[in-house]
Amino acid sequence: MHMTMLGKGIRILLVGVISVFFLQCSCKGYNAPDSYLLDCGSSTNTTFGDRVFLADNSEASKFLSTPQDVLASSSSNSNGSSPFYKTARIFTGTTKYTFPITQKGRHWIRLYFSPFVYNSYNMSSAKFTVSTESFVLLNSFTTTSSVTKEYSVNVTSDSLTVTFSPSSNSFAFLNAIEVVSVPDELIQDDAALLPSGNYQGLLAQALETVHRVNMGGPAISSLNDSLWRSWVNDWNFLINKGLAKNVTNIGAVNYVPGGASQNIAPNIVYGTLTEMNSADNPSSNFNVSWLFDVDLGFRYLVRFHFCDIVSNSLNQLYFNVYIGTSIIVDSLDLSTRTFNTLAAPYYLDLVTDLADNTTLRVSIGPNTENGAYPNAILNGLEIMKMNNTMRSLSGDSSSVLSGSNSNSHVGVIVGSSIGVFLAMVFIVALFICCQKRRRRLARQGLTKTWIPISINGGTSLTMGSKFSNGTTATIASSLGYRIPFVAVQEATNNFNESWVIGIGGFGKVYRGELGDGTKVAVKRGNPKSQQGLAEFQTEIEMLSQFRHRHLVSLIGYCDERNEMILIYEYMENGTLKSHLYGSGLPSLSWKQRLEICIGAARGLHYLHTGYAKAVIHRDVKSANILLNENLMAKVADFGLSKAGPELDQTHVSTAVKGSFGYLDPEYFRRQQLTEKSDIYSFGVVLLEVLCARPVIDPTLPREMVNLAEWAMKWQKKGQLEKIIDQDLAGKIRPESLRKFAETAEKCLEDFGVNRPSMGDVLWNLEYALQLQEAVLLGDSEDSSMNMIGDLSPQVNNFSNLDASVSAADIHAKEGPANDDASRVSMSRVFSQLVNSEGR
Ligand SMILES: *[C@@H]1O[C@H](CO)[C@@H](O)[C@H](O)[C@H]1NC(C)=O
Ligand SMILES: *[C@@H]1O[C@H](CO)[C@@H](O)[C@H](O)[C@H]1NC(C)=O
Ligand SMILES: *[C@@H]1O[C@H](CO)[C@@H](O)[C@H](O)[C@H]1NC(C)=O
Ligand SMILES: *[C@@H]1O[C@H](CO)[C@@H](O)[C@H](O)[C@H]1NC(C)=O
Ligand SMILES: *[C@@H]1O[C@H](CO)[C@@H](O)[C@H](O)[C@H]1NC(C)=O
Ligand SMILES: *[C@@H]1O[C@H](CO)[C@@H](O)[C@H](O)[C@H]1NC(C)=O
Ligand SMILES: *[C@@H]1O[C@H](CO)[C@@H](O)[C@H](O)[C@H]1NC(C)=O
Ligand SMILES: *[C@@H]1O[C@H](CO)[C@@H](O)[C@H](O)[C@H]1NC(C)=O
Ligand SMILES: *[C@@H]1O[C@H](CO)[C@@H](O)[C@H](O)[C@H]1NC(C)=O
Repeated sequence: MHMTMLGKGIRILLVGVISVFFLQCSCKGYNAPDSYLLDCGSSTNTTFGDRVFLADNSEASKFLSTPQDVLASSSSNSNGSSPFYKTARIFTGTTKYTFPITQKGRHWIRLYFSPFVYNSYNMSSAKFTVSTESFVLLNSFTTTSSVTKEYSVNVTSDSLTVTFSPSSNSFAFLNAIEVVSVPDELIQDDAALLPSGNYQGLLAQALETVHRVNMGGPAISSLNDSLWRSWVNDWNFLINKGLAKNVTNIGAVNYVPGGASQNIAPNIVYGTLTEMNSADNPSSNFNVSWLFDVDLGFRYLVRFHFCDIVSNSLNQLYFNVYIGTSIIVDSLDLSTRTFNTLAAPYYLDLVTDLADNTTLRVSIGPNTENGAYPNAILNGLEIMKMNNTMRSLSGDSSSVLSGSNSNSHVGVIVGSSIGVFLAMVFIVALFICCQKRRRRLARQGLTKTWIPISINGGTSLTMGSKFSNGTTATIASSLGYRIPFVAVQEATNNFNESWVIGIGGFGKVYRGELGDGTKVAVKRGNPKSQQGLAEFQTEIEMLSQFRHRHLVSLIGYCDERNEMILIYEYMENGTLKSHLYGSGLPSLSWKQRLEICIGAARGLHYLHTGYAKAVIHRDVKSANILLNENLMAKVADFGLSKAGPELDQTHVSTAVKGSFGYLDPEYFRRQQLTEKSDIYSFGVVLLEVLCARPVIDPTLPREMVNLAEWAMKWQKKGQLEKIIDQDLAGKIRPESLRKFAETAEKCLEDFGVNRPSMGDVLWNLEYALQLQEAVLLGDSEDSSMNMIGDLSPQVNNFSNLDASVSAADIHAKEGPANDDASRVSMSRVFSQLVNSEGR
């Protein structure tokens, strides 16, 4: 008797100790090694539940690098569910948040947006792109209502950078940002795959939470979730609400070791569910279905949460789970999946096929094969968007490219249409090889044994006939890029020699007019050149992916009859170069020149930052900056462009390409390509614009031959104004000239790391323009004047920039070898290039 009492006492004590232990665990939740919480624009710390979002002061801004920013606040923009909405930061230039990562692995990135109007900034009309080093999170994003975006990415380096890039003529804003570690257990590497098999590689995926739903239970705020996730109720997603019934039994949830833990989902998720509303009818047979919005062309990781809180004993409940019309689990018996424990949480991961419908239907239905009572349950559901092959999570950037499976070396910018195109190019290449081989064999008198595919003109198997019959034709033609050869002939008056407007390395350029009256420039490649073929391909890839008002747009191409023809929008005013010297065209004003430089910088900035990976133009020069009828600048000639270095670490180009006088000496030395090579070339263009002379002029005295060397000599002496274009003399305000010259000088720094980014260059040029235009401050409502007022206290001069790159500096400067190499003069670069490459 006593013994049993004692035993009972000990048992109660034990249960007590254990439950205290568990209580403590559940209260404390997960202790994140990295946790950065910033309340943007706020002057005070903001407490939200048990977390503190830091005020946006010097403490927080050590993570921030921005050319210029505005702190905004609004007393009216409040939202009970989020205390961060009253303040925001506005970014008018490319801005980076860099967070040190102490423990590599998956991290949440949560971005809070709640637009309001502040001074001249209407955040509802802000448009911008957000990316990390590896992934595009949001592309050309705008919002008119409050939204929280949640992502999780596996960080494999010591820091995570989140970049905000405003679209042209717009700005970006942010109310709060969160970067917090995710426990490793949350996302495993593999999952079931639809329609069949297994998906591996989830660890490398960037995920965006698009739906997180607590079936049959309340919405759960981030405060009640150990990983600060928010859950919504499923009611609005149910297709037929009458068929569904809520059940709540939170006390029954029995987390067991080895099963789903509280970090997978809290007990409010597992303790509530939606089941079949069978109304006690034992012959009920229907599905309960939910419908969720998804974006076309993406895969989704769908996580089902189950916990049988409705059965009285094991092995009572059998049901089917579907996505769309596919059955995911036939006759699911949770007992067998939870170590024969009743009401133990269980989850199931599944990766969908590429979405081909904008809705995803999830259903549960009874399985009565073994005579069980008809019922089916679902406790929770998470739908996470997976990055596509272009490392993007943003629908806009991929709508054309959905379904792509291309494996090209420029995968980031290659879409499915390009996949088709690559195949085509391969065939063209094959033809060319065949042709060569045939000629060689012919010379050896062996033609008879060689039966080639006909390669002559219209009767042969041309690209055109191949593709107009194939199923692939729809993809190619839907892009509207392919133009029949006859149409090109018509447009150019049968390639009339007197219509030639230029001759480049690739071939002749004709002016032309399409049937509908559109003026075009037609570039006809020399089909014999392999080099041309590669450039042809690159150009189409680039221009069909990158659309921007400061990039020349591709109207179409023609590959019939072995031709390589590119058709562009016509640029009335030709090249920037022709307006600077050598053509007798009227001289451009300083303001016009600045505006042209700004336009070109915008185009290049877009190339460098528009995608997750920078795209490097590689041939920036005044002849590749074209001007339309309004003298608006557009960057052209993408034949040499390459996706940035991070994309392809192994890429060390074997042949240095580019144009004399514009070539980055560091690229030449190390043969390693970065976007900073474009910055160098652009610096040379700036000097060309200022001095209106060729970048290399061998007829001049030796020290004057190379414009960059010569101008920098004068700039170092502080007398650059002595060598500027005579037409500009006395017409440039000294401050504007100083800013412009400083910008050019920084672009020409020996080491790429010391050069500014294109975003910085852009900003400085805009500032130089404002300095030129500056009239008395405060006397007008003109917003550009207000800008000056707004910006001047935070002027981003280069001494600030220097501080921000000092760490990188140290790397670049190590080793005396580099020092030596930096003295390789431009004239040596020139003479070596003359021999290797005649572009
Ligand atoms: C905000 O909180 C941080 C850390 O919790 C603290 O160091 C800082 O002084 C606080 N700032 C203000 C303005 O209260
Ligand atoms: C992150 O990715 C790396 C490499 O893909 C992998 O080894 C690691 O396990 C991943 N970590 C997490 C937490 O997913
Ligand atoms: C802000 O922009 C939005 C969307 O462009 C527009 O609907 C709204 O009227 C604007 N508000 C103000 C105050 O200008
Ligand atoms: C408050 O913010 C949440 C998102 O964080 C949003 O769903 C909700 O609509 C907002 N409420 C108002 C009144 O703006
Ligand atoms: C969430 O937590 C708060 C206290 O932090 C509590 O009052 C509330 O009932 C909880 N909500 C749910 C749905 O459990
Ligand atoms: C189920 O719960 C949701 C939210 O809690 C509620 O809106 C809905 O009316 C409930 N459904 C039924 C059938 O009670
Ligand atoms: C439930 O949905 C699946 C998939 O659409 C379908 O095959 C099945 O026939 C449905 N069951 C019932 C009872 O309607
Ligand atoms: C997309 O799904 C909805 C709902 O299931 C269906 O009605 C529609 O026909 C589907 N559309 C296409 C194009 O398959
Ligand atoms: C997502 O990006 C990773 C690179 O980090 C890539 O390996 C993976 O294939 C991409 N996912 C999809 C579904 O294309």
